[in-house]
Amino acid sequence: MNALVATNRNFKLAARLLGLDSKLEKSLLIPFREIKVECTIPKDDGTLASFVGFRVQHDNARGPMKGGIRYHPEVEHNEVNALAQLMTWKTAVANIPYGGAKGGIGCDPRDLSISELERLTRVFTQKIHDLIGIHADVPAPDMGTGPQTMAWMLDEYSKFHGYSPAVVTGKPIDLGGSLGRDAATGRGVLFATEALLNEHGKAISGQKFVIQGFGNVGSWAARLIHEKGGKIVAVSDITGAIKNSKGIDIPRLLNHVKENKGVKGFEGADSLDPESILVEDCDILIPAALGGIINRENANEIKAKFIIEAANHPTDPEADEILSKKGVIILPDIYANSGGVTVSYFEWVQNIQGFLWDEEKVNNELKTYMTKAFKDVKKMCQVHNCDLRMGAFTLGVNRVARATVMRGWEA
Ligand SMILES: NC(=O)c1ccc[n+]([C@@H]2O[C@H](COP(=O)([O-])OP(=O)(O)OC[C@H]3O[C@@H](n4cnc5c(N)ncnc54)[C@H](O)[C@@H]3O)[C@@H](O)[C@H]2O)c1
Repeated sequence: MNALVATNRNFKLAARLLGLDSKLEKSLLIPFREIKVECTIPKDDGTLASFVGFRVQHDNARGPMKGGIRYHPEVEHNEVNALAQLMTWKTAVANIPYGGAKGGIGCDPRDLSISELERLTRVFTQKIHDLIGIHADVPAPDMGTGPQTMAWMLDEYSKFHGYSPAVVTGKPIDLGGSLGRDAATGRGVLFATEALLNEHGKAISGQKFVIQGFGNVGSWAARLIHEKGGKIVAVSDITGAIKNSKGIDIPRLLNHVKENKGVKGFEGADSLDPESILVEDCDILIPAALGGIINRENANEIKAKFIIEAANHPTDPEADEILSKKGVIILPDIYANSGGVTVSYFEWVQNIQGFLWDEEKVNNELKTYMTKAFKDVKKMCQVHNCDLRMGAFTLGVNRVARATVMRGWEA
């Protein structure tokens, strides 16, 4: 099922549980603005290359639109649209004053040199600069992008509008980035997992974890879970998959990845078929790479008792149904990976105030937001007698619907 169909389905289920008016339901689903641009750049060898860039601005009822920029070969309009919508519900679940947006460029960043990536980012920014802004739409990093990408976007945007650090988040610290932002999504995944396990009388320590994706989110989640005594028994990334039933030495793996640009070839583990990582024996599965990878083809084979959705929309609705029947508990993306956008919000606040928080304050505030959001989601589960995904969706959709109605959407 494609990402947009899957996301719309979850939204509609939530709208029904909330008893939303059908016109309001339709209006909440349609994006505020969809931007598609052609980005042509000279390659290092002098030839020209063209890439398609997207920015979908989904909703701004609760504040400026917010969401990442992804560089990946699979970036396409429908998925960006779905991800933008998810950001609207996610910022509402986290209860931060933002709407939702998402962007991306269909490219493989591993095939581009640093200077080609810089040119591509600058051209993309030139084409969208008049539609983003501190109080309009604030991009951030996502798959295939990072602090350097945000530094180029900030610089290019500032050529048109004057120095504007708050126009993007996830920046390098030297350019107004927040301490703790790099680790924030992974740390939020840790806090979310702790909140869920705590409810089941369990702790991170002693649980067996499998993590798909070892980039920003997966590697930080792995590091923090390892520090808390969790045993990570299998990990994969685009280069391959590895497994060690005694537990992978994560600090050693981090060094290996730094030197070798991937988990492949790590000596402290055996190699594993990347296709089978999701069905490896474990207590907790953390998808932290692509969307749609848990589907009706593999859902029945999944051994984990808990799935923590660090990636966006990793679970297809058909798989949701199968897993629910098996008693697998899924902590949904719009709550589980909201640590990144929450600390992005802290970064934006610091930029606007011209003030730098220390890392302890950032991490403590993040824990407060994640813990509160978990309680809010659970409350909606009780009110609507539903699972955690619908608890999170009803929470997010209800907050956006209320703001929309109060602002007067029918005029
Ligand atoms: N970065 C954030 O703050 C943030 C916030 C919320 C959600 N997310 C979501 O988390 C996920 C990961 O984002 P990230 O920022 O860590 O990206 P990243 O680019 O830093 O890392 C992505 C990882 O996924 C791996 N990967 C790519 N294709 C794969 C495949 N086919 N099989 C296995 N692994 C594969 C890459 O090798 C890499 O290890 C995405 O779904 C993203 O939307 C990220």
